[in-house]
Amino acid sequence: MLSEEQNRALTEVGAGTPMGELLRRYWMPIAAVAELDDHPTKPVRLMGEDLVLYKDKAGNYGLVDRHCPHRRADLSYGWVESCGLRCHYHGWLWDHTGRCLQQPFEETAHPDAKFKDRVRIKAYPVEAKAGLLWAYLGPPPAPLVPTWEPFTWGNGFVQIVFSEVPCNWFQCQENSIDPVHFEWLHSNWSRALGGAEGQRSPTHLKVGFEEFEYGITYRRVLEGQSEQDELWTVGRCCLWPNCLFTGGHFEWRVPIDDGNMLSVGWFFDRVPNEMEPYKQDRIPYWVSPIKGALTDRWITSHVMNQDFVAWAGQGAVADRTQEHLGESDRGVIMMRRRILEDAERVARGEEPKGVIRDPDKNRIVRLPIIGRDFFVNGSSKVESETSRQRTPGLPLRREFPFLVGQPEEVRAAYRRAMGLPEPGVDARSPAG
Ligand code: FES
Ligand SMILES: [Fe+2]
Repeated sequence: MLSEEQNRALTEVGAGTPMGELLRRYWMPIAAVAELDDHPTKPVRLMGEDLVLYKDKAGNYGLVDRHCPHRRADLSYGWVESCGLRCHYHGWLWDHTGRCLQQPFEETAHPDAKFKDRVRIKAYPVEAKAGLLWAYLGPPPAPLVPTWEPFTWGNGFVQIVFSEVPCNWFQCQENSIDPVHFEWLHSNWSRALGGAEGQRSPTHLKVGFEEFEYGITYRRVLEGQSEQDELWTVGRCCLWPNCLFTGGHFEWRVPIDDGNMLSVGWFFDRVPNEMEPYKQDRIPYWVSPIKGALTDRWITSHVMNQDFVAWAGQGAVADRTQEHLGESDRGVIMMRRRILEDAERVARGEEPKGVIRDPDKNRIVRLPIIGRDFFVNGSSKVESETSRQRTPGLPLRREFPFLVGQPEEVRAAYRRAMGLPEPGVDARSPAG
């Protein structure tokens, strides 16, 4: 059980708070590259700061204050030019470094005053990687955006999915180190929702947690499996400070503010060998809803939607003074302790865990990956459809199991990439 003070320390994300300062040492994914190609401005709220992300006509990405420093108009309604973002109210032009390039009437009235050199807009660096746009809100020099190993894989169909969940980011990240929830929240609850609650999925016999350079791995032995299986020998991991990595996909829990979180999913599906070489011209992105349009009840049909129900169900900010932690929560306890230590480290001016600054190291950052050989080399369609994989997540999926609402064009592109001719029955095989 935590004190109220500890609970606040874990959950407040504003600038100047211990966790807010820790989070500002890492790049956060905030949009898809294709999203800004479709529309060049996007309002973004990140760690309590209201901002506008844009791509100008020269291809520069900017992330600036939502409000124009002149008289505070909402710059997400501005337009992009060959360099910078122009305010729609009086035409002041801002670049991605925060400089004011033009103030049309001021320059007419006082050509020599150089007023524009005395005003700046708050601006943060943005980088594109793996089809995502990443923002860094911390002090310079910014570290590198990690090149996680799957970002370098070829022959894969990648998609990016966003959802906004009305709760604090940290209770979502605690879920990344909670293997037992998978058995209940996903397997058994899905059975119960489907009317088959009598049949239980294999139970957890043993869980293990281990810290490594970039996070904490979690391992499990399920009924019918042994310590020789990759779920135990390799495990899955939570990446520091706000990501779950299962091997085939990443889920970032990006803090919008203390009571809201942007879920950013990056999903890789290896095409069968018969479909190689496969090259994706554009990584698609979409937004998944969290509630039913008619009922206002949470959607429970897909894996991450089930997670959202659990997380938001804990309240906008989970009250950790009221918990009763047990053996299954060893990973959660470990993560809380480590992240608070890291926040203290940042407060002392030291570097927190897993920050990458060495370009050589960042060529490929290797992670624990169950079934790496499959992701890298693939397998034939026949093999992946017929082999009885004991490791979840590897068989060729016909439907997207993680989030509800995949647009038809993404589904069709996926099926073409995989060489799946017809829409088939739901072959759900989630990984968690
Ligand atoms: S408020 Fe933006 S130019 Fe006036
Ligand atoms: Fe889950």
